[in-house]
Amino acid sequence: TMADHLRKYESLFTLTPQRMRIIAEAFKETLELGLTKPGQVVPMIPTFVFGWPSGKETGDFLALDLGGTNLRVCLVTLQGSGQFEITQSKYRLSEEQKNGDGQKLFDFCAECLKTFVETNIGSDDEGPIKDGHHLPLGFTFSYPCSQERIDHGELIRWTKGINVANTEGHDVAAMFATSLAKYQLPIKLTALINDTTGTLIASHYVNPRTKIAVIFGTGCNAAYMEHIKDIEKIKHLGIDPKAEMAINCEWGAFDSFEHEHLPRTKYDTIVDESSNKPGEQAFEKLISGRYLGEILRLVICELIDEGVLFLGQNTYKLENPYCFDTAFLSLMESDPTDELLMIIGIFTHFFALETTLAERQFFRALAKLIGRRAARLSACGIAAIVGKMGYLDEGCSVGADGSLYNKYPGFADRVHEGLFDIFGEKGRNIITHHAEDGSGVGSAIIAAMTKIRKDAGL
Ligand code: BG6
Ligand code: GLC
Repeated sequence: TMADHLRKYESLFTLTPQRMRIIAEAFKETLELGLTKPGQVVPMIPTFVFGWPSGKETGDFLALDLGGTNLRVCLVTLQGSGQFEITQSKYRLSEEQKNGDGQKLFDFCAECLKTFVETNIGSDDEGPIKDGHHLPLGFTFSYPCSQERIDHGELIRWTKGINVANTEGHDVAAMFATSLAKYQLPIKLTALINDTTGTLIASHYVNPRTKIAVIFGTGCNAAYMEHIKDIEKIKHLGIDPKAEMAINCEWGAFDSFEHEHLPRTKYDTIVDESSNKPGEQAFEKLISGRYLGEILRLVICELIDEGVLFLGQNTYKLENPYCFDTAFLSLMESDPTDELLMIIGIFTHFFALETTLAERQFFRALAKLIGRRAARLSACGIAAIVGKMGYLDEGCSVGADGSLYNKYPGFADRVHEGLFDIFGEKGRNIITHHAEDGSGVGSAIIAAMTKIRKDAGL
């Protein structure tokens, strides 16, 4: 029966508290290793964002957000004391752009910026672009880049299924500057940032209890503020050891290649091996929105092959990789009807398949297992940072953003439940909250912080 099948998947996808503590401990060691030497699997990237914002940062800044699904351009006016205004436009990236050439992609970014500036800012002397002045821009580029300074970043690797040529190993800030020059834009790239770093800074700007930021979206990653004295691999730079710097963990890479810590199912192995980057982003592939739907689809396909589901129906539509969107999991879990009408809708409308109530209940239960595993694994990552930094007793806020966090029902509760399972009662001191727009506001604040440091001759 369906119930027997469900039991099997329950045992495959369930993480016990004991197991979570073991993962969190290994995770913590991996984070520490990443700080000691360059080139580690989890790269623990120094971002050259020094310390927290004062909240007094002011001015007009452009922000460009290249994260995966969309390209977003924002004009952010920071008004100080945690206040800001924002105007923005979104542009959709085509499949061709996501699989094309790097310089072309940055040219497209510059083109969108140009349109945005022309429609929203103009060039008169009243506006923020006065004669001969360049408007500072924070570029949120949400892929792992190793940085030597804030306006530089060499792309280590594309993640989240993106596959743009002639970019890995290149300084994307320089490539983008080339495109800006080509379109003769009065704009200067002041900071290249990751979405997690932007989220960390923007969340702290409005809520100073924020110590960690996590993105749960197409990808999954975290950033936090580290003591310079504990970042062994940048000792040679001679930065004041009492200062602090944000670290972009790129934790999605945890357990890549060796696969020694995470309990992967055979569906996870298939997702990995059929991806454009086998072996990489092992943690992310169990958690992020890009993959959850695919994991569920693979389970369903297995049961089709075993003759358990959709007997006598043509299932070809479900056999397409990545056709089962993670948004369907959210919908299935939030279906309020006894008959599970939304699930009927998904299967008839998108896959031309009829379902029995027992099947629908099974799909919903499966979504819950996969979604819950993602949240609990995320809790292991958060626990690793909390443990490393000693935040458990005083507690802290974790700024969180991304489609999974914002739209998946109960995701945050499951992360909190996971933290409770790892730490016991004290786990309740760690609370996630929806973050301020990290790629827009965060990148503006970082551009402002950078300017203040520069003006001070630092
Ligand atoms: C947005 C954040 O809400 O989520 C961005 O403002 C982030 O900073 C994005 O990059 C990630 O989510 P998704 O679902 O678009 O990958
Ligand atoms: C991927 C990227 C990382 C980003 C995350 C969330 O993990 O490698 O840089 O922060 O997705 O968008």
